[in-house]
Amino acid sequence: MRLSICWSLAFCALFSAPLWAQPALPDAATVSQPEGWADDLALAIPEDLNPDPNILEINLEAVIREMEIVPGTLTPVWTYNGSLPGPLIRAKVGDRVIVHFKNSLPEDTSVHWHGLRVPNDQDGVPGFTMDPVRPGEVFTYDFVLPDAGTFWYHPHVNSAAQVGWGLYGPLIVDDPNEPDFGDEQVLVFSDMGVDEQGQFRPMDSGGSAGFLFGREGEVLLVNGKVKPTLLVRQGKPQRWRIINATRSRYYTLRYKRAPLVKIGGDGGLAARSETRDEFKLVPSERLDLIFTPPDEPGSEGFLRWYPTNRGYGTTYYRVPEDIMRIVTVDAEPVQAAPVPEELIPYEPLDLSNAIEREINLTIAFDKDGKVVMGINGIPHERAIPIEAKVGTTEIWTINNDTDFSHPFHMHGFFFQVLDEGWIPQWKDSVDVPFKTSLRLAVHFDDRPGMWMYHCHILDHAEVGMMGHLHVMP
Ligand code: C2O
Ligand code: CU
Repeated sequence: MRLSICWSLAFCALFSAPLWAQPALPDAATVSQPEGWADDLALAIPEDLNPDPNILEINLEAVIREMEIVPGTLTPVWTYNGSLPGPLIRAKVGDRVIVHFKNSLPEDTSVHWHGLRVPNDQDGVPGFTMDPVRPGEVFTYDFVLPDAGTFWYHPHVNSAAQVGWGLYGPLIVDDPNEPDFGDEQVLVFSDMGVDEQGQFRPMDSGGSAGFLFGREGEVLLVNGKVKPTLLVRQGKPQRWRIINATRSRYYTLRYKRAPLVKIGGDGGLAARSETRDEFKLVPSERLDLIFTPPDEPGSEGFLRWYPTNRGYGTTYYRVPEDIMRIVTVDAEPVQAAPVPEELIPYEPLDLSNAIEREINLTIAFDKDGKVVMGINGIPHERAIPIEAKVGTTEIWTINNDTDFSHPFHMHGFFFQVLDEGWIPQWKDSVDVPFKTSLRLAVHFDDRPGMWMYHCHILDHAEVGMMGHLHVMP
């Protein structure tokens, strides 16, 4: 007993003394980020062709460009405007966006605005909301941005392949009334399945197993680069808006064991901030983080990908991978005020008249042994649309009794997850882990039409895990 008291006293004296003695650090607000801190992560900015400050009008061309993904080789990357990822489309809530889209690819494509609550005819789903944009053709998108948040865009034709080949780009909607979290950087995470010669692996590599697991590319990219460098200063916070633009890859994200503060995700800020030393990010989901660099001046480390157990065999033989190099510059550390816990007020949806539905995510095999996925056992080619009415609220229970996790995504409408433990926030993409269920609430505002909902492991959507939602006037 006596010994342990002595020991703990000694322990205290040893480790807390420096804390008392520590002089206060300069306020983080008085210093800026290191010079050129995010130069390596720069995104292309499209030229605004319209002088009206409330209209962003741009040209967007889908075109193949050779790029060095594997050192010493060239990969024929499918790009928007020749850049990987596509250009950063950024405007404020209420702005009108006009996109003159041109398809210079050898096959049909389209642009889907992931997460944006646009009118149905702007949603970019050929066969349902528009005709495909054929090679050489143009299509003009024209819509107003209703909500702040971190969004992205990608094709909705042959998506597993086209997204896998590089067609994705970030879209940020700012709300001038939101609190300012300081310097920010948009980070588009993606991966590419290429061989040593830099050639894309065949889209059906691995056959049914490839579809079942979802194909992950072996080259991990951040803003189109392998292990790009970010410069930071100890104690000076940065806001990272992260987009998972991979076709199948889950991220468990860590920087050593440093605390990361999540302030929001898909549909803008959450009601409250949340601090953890790792966050999961599923395909098509977004993560809005405050990172406060913890390391000594002059040191470096890596933001890392850790394997996520998303079902049968998905973590076997998998090791962590470095994805972004973080260099803490040799400058005096600073100290910032903590991120507030309360962020924005949240109105929960009124569920008093909500209609309940069950959605079962299903996996089966046909008589030739080929994998067929579906909703309630029906693949999307044969889907019978769910019929809902404008102005109503529904509660969907998403049941996943399969052996794999599925990132569930709904087009056109935000939802709130009702399960316990969820901080209120608007989402359009959410993980439904294997052998679990999740409940979400969605309100159908006045944008009738045929909308998709699907698993955003694009290989799964490809083999049928996609349903149709007919919102009727
Ligand atoms: Cu990212 Cu059907 O969408
Ligand atoms: Cu899936």
